[in-house]
Amino acid sequence: MNHKFGSITVYVEQDYDAMSSKAAEIFSEEINKHPEAAFGFATGGTPLGMYKQLIEMNKQKAVNFSGITTFNLDEYYPISRDNDQSYYYFMMTNLFEKVNIDRDKIHIPNGNAADINKECTEYEEALTASGGLRMQLLGIGLNGHIGFNEPSGSFSRATHCVQLDQSTCEANARFFTSVDDVPRQAITMGIGTIMMSESILLLANGKGKAEIIKKALTGPITPEVPASVLQLHRNVIVVLDKSAAEGIL
Ligand code: GLP
Repeated sequence: MNHKFGSITVYVEQDYDAMSSKAAEIFSEEINKHPEAAFGFATGGTPLGMYKQLIEMNKQKAVNFSGITTFNLDEYYPISRDNDQSYYYFMMTNLFEKVNIDRDKIHIPNGNAADINKECTEYEEALTASGGLRMQLLGIGLNGHIGFNEPSGSFSRATHCVQLDQSTCEANARFFTSVDDVPRQAITMGIGTIMMSESILLLANGKGKAEIIKKALTGPITPEVPASVLQLHRNVIVVLDKSAAEGIL
């Protein structure tokens, strides 16, 4: 089922698997239409099913990653790339090592950079030099964060360093031994970086996300709900499972 919220198209699918299939279909179509373009990838539990589908589609030659350039949304700081909780490790093991992607064209912020501000500037420059993103994939945090852009008094612009909210550390503690092991800082694309993408594909599943999806899509546009800025973008597609759509249907 397809609904419209302003300029945002929302697909509501039966369950997580159907959400993942729909997302894989949309993202792979875009890659096949623009096989040499740059694409933005995301981490978290939400896109895992979509990544599994993309791996399967790649095996069957239904999607070709060989010409694309990739930029990930964010990375913890400090964290080393071989730490199995780093987003680098996540992307390599859950997608990039399993598809025909050119490793030289993968960009993920370096969570071990000696100079974090320099890393942020260079990341943004590399993204701009690639010609910009064709499609950015997004999940959404329980507090409305996109990438690691936490609720705040203003919308951030370019890639920058952030302090993580306690609630985000707690939500992400499930992937670490304890909440104390979750790094307190991160490097993230800015809201401005994300908004410059030609198109945006946001996914959410589960009852726990219903309230924030409602606020993001139908509430006031405010940096206190970072995802609400997407209401100002001209080409956003949201794919939800039924539970995440409960607040808007
Ligand atoms: C994390 C990531 C986000 C992700 C979000 C939701 O903190 N930085 O990019 O979208 O939280 O995660 P999940 O998909 O596991 O709910």
